[in-house]
Amino acid sequence: MKGENVVRTLALTRDYGDGAQRVRALDSVDFTVDKGEFVSLAGPSGSGKSTLLNLIGGLDTPTSGEVWVGDDCLTAKSAAELAHIRLHRIGFVFQAYNLLPVLSARENVEFVMQLQGVDATERRERADRMLDAVGLAALADRRPGDMSGGQQQRVAVARALVTEPLLLLADEPSANLDSETTESLLGLLRAMNERFATTIITATHDPIVMRYARRHIQLKDGRIVADDIGRPPV
Ligand SMILES: Nc1ncnc2c1ncn2[C@@H]1O[C@H](COP(=O)(O)OP(=O)(O)OP(=O)(O)O)[C@@H](O)[C@H]1O
Ligand SMILES: [Mg+2]
Repeated sequence: MKGENVVRTLALTRDYGDGAQRVRALDSVDFTVDKGEFVSLAGPSGSGKSTLLNLIGGLDTPTSGEVWVGDDCLTAKSAAELAHIRLHRIGFVFQAYNLLPVLSARENVEFVMQLQGVDATERRERADRMLDAVGLAALADRRPGDMSGGQQQRVAVARALVTEPLLLLADEPSANLDSETTESLLGLLRAMNERFATTIITATHDPIVMRYARRHIQLKDGRIVADDIGRPPV
């Protein structure tokens, strides 16, 4: 691994299904993301955005090719090693990566820190600070089932950011959010990106989210068809 690459993919390919049903969701993708970049992945439905994020996050295994996160080749790791990398280095804001329904918002935000071994007082302080930052201080004791979709999404963002991960992966982070809440969430992501050089990769259809990213990658049929660093999306 060279320099400050946080993510590197080599001929990354993911097929789903067999025979005539086979779909090449990702087709030999090579790209690198450096520390502190804020990248948006755009492209039509089915173009491979979620597939790519799942592979970068070590939640899925490629058919062929490699994914590197920092100095770790995820493709060569055991399930336990992948879990360790996810816990300590990667934050997820994924719809499928749900909040735990029996825990309050605060407990959900504390949960990852608990797995990391952060002590109880510090956990509570950091969780409350992050819930305040996403505008949910008043709802800290509520369970996800008693919150709106947008409020749950903000808890998920607070949970992903509270550990100050090296890499934040967000799949459609503005789904369920009105434009004002989207702006405030993205402001928070940008602040983390600027203050801690958190590397952010987000898959989105939302022009507001794209506006906050500084590099815009376009996928089509599982391939990168445009990678315009610093240029606003068309
Ligand atoms: N679990 C799965 N089983 C079978 N095929 C899948 C699976 N997940 C994705 N695919 C297929 O892989 C391709 C890429 O899907 P992917 O979910 O990565 O697209 P996407 O760009 O995230 O789309 P969207 O914008 O709708 O979220 C599609 O053809 C999809 O049907
Ligand atoms: Mg998707």
